[in-house]
Amino acid sequence: MNVRRLLTRTVLVLMIVLGIAFAVAWVRSDNDCAAQRASRPSAPMRAVVYCDYGTPDVLTIAQIEKPVPQDTQVLVRVKAASVNPVDWHMMRGTPYVMRLGSGLRKPAVTRTGVDFAGVVEAVGRQVSRFKVGDEVFGGRTGSLADYIVVSEDRAIVLKPATVTFDQAAAVGVAGLTALQGIRDRGQVTKGQRVLINGASGGVGTFAVQIAKYLGAEVTAVCSTRNVELVRSLGADHVIDYTREDFTTRGRRYDVMLDNVGNRPVSACRRVIVANGKYVLVGGGGPDDHRIIGPLGRALSLYAVSPFVRQQLGMFIAELNRDDLDWFAGAMQSGNVTPVIDRRYPLAQAADAMRYLETGRARGKVIVTME
Ligand SMILES: NC(=O)c1ccc[n+]([C@@H]2O[C@H](COP(=O)([O-])OP(=O)(O)OC[C@H]3O[C@@H](n4cnc5c(N)ncnc54)[C@H](OP(=O)(O)O)[C@@H]3O)[C@@H](O)[C@H]2O)c1
Repeated sequence: MNVRRLLTRTVLVLMIVLGIAFAVAWVRSDNDCAAQRASRPSAPMRAVVYCDYGTPDVLTIAQIEKPVPQDTQVLVRVKAASVNPVDWHMMRGTPYVMRLGSGLRKPAVTRTGVDFAGVVEAVGRQVSRFKVGDEVFGGRTGSLADYIVVSEDRAIVLKPATVTFDQAAAVGVAGLTALQGIRDRGQVTKGQRVLINGASGGVGTFAVQIAKYLGAEVTAVCSTRNVELVRSLGADHVIDYTREDFTTRGRRYDVMLDNVGNRPVSACRRVIVANGKYVLVGGGGPDDHRIIGPLGRALSLYAVSPFVRQQLGMFIAELNRDDLDWFAGAMQSGNVTPVIDRRYPLAQAADAMRYLETGRARGKVIVTME
């Protein structure tokens, strides 16, 4: 009886402490928006900012201070950027679990966009890999802006002259996710059968091309209007999900890359061979799974994993130089060509995000700085 009482009290105290800690963190959660509004930049530039979580309506074009590169940084004049679902996740603060890192009440980081391509305008004193005038591309938070600074040893590489700024800006998050999903997680080799669910979006259009480049036999899943698109990217077989369910066709694959996560894990496991790999990339729109997002599905994969021979898991892509260089080579040789759906000027960045949020993008959505 005493033990029960002690336990109840301990749990109660813990809940009160946690509640107070949460309330304090909630109230203290803030960002630099007020200070920015009060300041008058001496060298202004345009940047897309958001001071509160919300729909694309929270995005505004602000005049902020143009950054100055530190010793190991380069200043890039952004020519083009592209948007990814991660941008609307951060903008909306969903899934909510993410706010433990991004700011409980308000976004701690108020800049958006990651992928960029542009021209080096200035370099820090210790920079050795880049010089003024170099054309570059890569990934860095805050790319929806006239300028960004990037450390030379981070995700930034030279852009091949034959690749346009729009094409290079398309690579970033989606391209590296596709590469790491197919090549590293899927370990796809020549002759293997690969199924790509969600083959017509940002990640999918890269994944189809990369899997083909690695010599796989590719089956792409998309809707009717995108059948020809994914076929033109090299897909050997296309399943129109409006007519056929890929989980009930009786075909089996060595690797499945899942950009949608819309079929039960058990059904996905049935389409993979006994020692095959299921690589979960993501899935879900702005109104789906608001609390933990695709983490719920990822957890169920890890729960099943120890008991089956198949390799099941989710991964978060890493922006790195080596993989960007891989893309520079693959684009230069014509083995991978980014698919660009729409272009928006910076002033219409909110519309670009609105369109991406529909989940209907065919390839990448670009924002240009003109
Ligand atoms: N883990 C990571 O590090 C990581 C990195 C990047 C992205 N992601 C996640 O991966 C997912 C895909 O990203 P993305 O950039 O490719 O998104 P996206 O460009 O917005 O994807 C849009 C595409 O999804 C297709 N689609 C929608 N419902 C579908 C369905 N039921 N079956 C097949 N295709 C469907 C659409 O084709 P239709 O119009 O034909 O339906 C459209 O072409 C997102 O959830 C994103 O958050 C994760």
